[in-house]
Amino acid sequence: MEIPALDRDHSDSLTDQIVRGLRNQIKDGVLKPGSRLPSIRGLARQVAVSPMTVVKAYESLETDGWILREHGRGTFVKGREAAAPARADTDWQLALVDGLPSVADVPFNPTANVDVKVNLANAVIGAGMLPAEPLSELLQTFSRDPDAVLSTYSSTAGEAILIRAVAEMLEIDEKELIITSGAQQATYIAARSFVGPGQAIAVEAPTYMGAIECFKTMGLHVLQIPVDEEGMRIDLLAAACEEFPIRMVYTVPAYQNPTGAVMSTRRRTQLLEVAETHRLVVLEDDIWGDLYFKEPPPTPLYKMDRGGHVVYVKSFSKTVSPGCRIAAVAVRGHFHKRFLANKSAMDLGSPVLTQALVGRFLESGQLPRTVEQLRRRLLQLYTACIATLERDAPDGLVWYPVQGGLTVWIRLPAGVRANETVRELSYHGVHVLSGDLCYMNEVLGQFVRITFCHPDTEQMTQAVSLLCATVKRLAERKRLARRRPTL
Ligand SMILES: Cc1ncc(COP(=O)(O)O)c(C=O)c1O
Repeated sequence: MEIPALDRDHSDSLTDQIVRGLRNQIKDGVLKPGSRLPSIRGLARQVAVSPMTVVKAYESLETDGWILREHGRGTFVKGREAAAPARADTDWQLALVDGLPSVADVPFNPTANVDVKVNLANAVIGAGMLPAEPLSELLQTFSRDPDAVLSTYSSTAGEAILIRAVAEMLEIDEKELIITSGAQQATYIAARSFVGPGQAIAVEAPTYMGAIECFKTMGLHVLQIPVDEEGMRIDLLAAACEEFPIRMVYTVPAYQNPTGAVMSTRRRTQLLEVAETHRLVVLEDDIWGDLYFKEPPPTPLYKMDRGGHVVYVKSFSKTVSPGCRIAAVAVRGHFHKRFLANKSAMDLGSPVLTQALVGRFLESGQLPRTVEQLRRRLLQLYTACIATLERDAPDGLVWYPVQGGLTVWIRLPAGVRANETVRELSYHGVHVLSGDLCYMNEVLGQFVRITFCHPDTEQMTQAVSLLCATVKRLAERKRLARRRPTL
């Protein structure tokens, strides 16, 4: 019996290679049913591996039904018919109707696996800019009474210390607050709680891709309402409400992701009027509101709302720690109970450890200073980013100035596609987000989103410069292609 030569540099283990070699010979009929395999020591000698490697290979083959080990007699190939496939056949799952849209429609990031040197795609506050040190010091204090955070569940609404601190910070009644594992979970639970089968949800166009992903995988009808420099076009929303069974509006009114637009007070008032007229729930995602450069954004919708239409979400992923996965939801009236019931059905409550940690951090009074420093740093980075765009942007490349947040929305020159721009840049290790991912249906193919929040200003500006050069090259290529006569 021959085993193909083992490749000691291969990423597969020697055990896996022996398993594969033997399995193939059994499958191909080279090793006949009933034939005896070498002893463990014999095979180990033959292929120069340790006996333990052969033991593991034989065990794996026996578990999968290819061979039989008979005590005192030896190891034999099982009948081919009797042998189970190496891995359970899961194709039956494809026939199971789940009511969801095709998984292929979910906008996973196409360049997620490339080797990224400078990531301008992710809207994440990088290491060094968030309060990791004070958090880790507070974390040590839990070792004095580990049971308090490790041997108990949280109440569904959340840990008292955190709720108290958030209530004080946001000036919202404690009874209105529920802690969730990030804004993403809050968004999911809100849609579960307030949008039923056959109903629709309106979102901004473009919008945060995580929200699209969430609503799409829930099988909801999603309508996109364009955004301009004053935020969501409420006139278009009102018109859509006449035509479609819209139940909820998802909005990021402060430093909207991806455009950075801020919804004006005028539009906020109009939105609440539309909500009242059409009995809508407004899901206000205020993840970026604290990260203004100079002036804070207008009063949150939740504070303006008198009729219990607005469900407010404040995440701490951008100001304290994305790893802690903590957000607070404010919701009034009967909706509070409904949201709580769905939160309970989902996970009973968020982890005690991270709630207690963020609670203690807020209680320590360090957040305002942390956010103040962050704002200053973000303004520096933004200024450097815009200066680079002003210097290097080719004709036709347009960016939209922002007053806060992390993102810059860029329109590419006519003819230059977002996907090819993303691809070309990825070859240089620079990752930007294709704007296509921020649309539900009408993919324009003409926008990219960059984030300027990178710990190294020089690397960030070099990457922005490279984006400009790449777009210029692509535009030039398009121009030449247009001039070339077709055959
Ligand atoms: C608009 C918006 N909402 C929600 C999230 C996700 O937030 P969390 O980490 O709190 O789940 C993000 C993340 O970037 C975001 O931009």
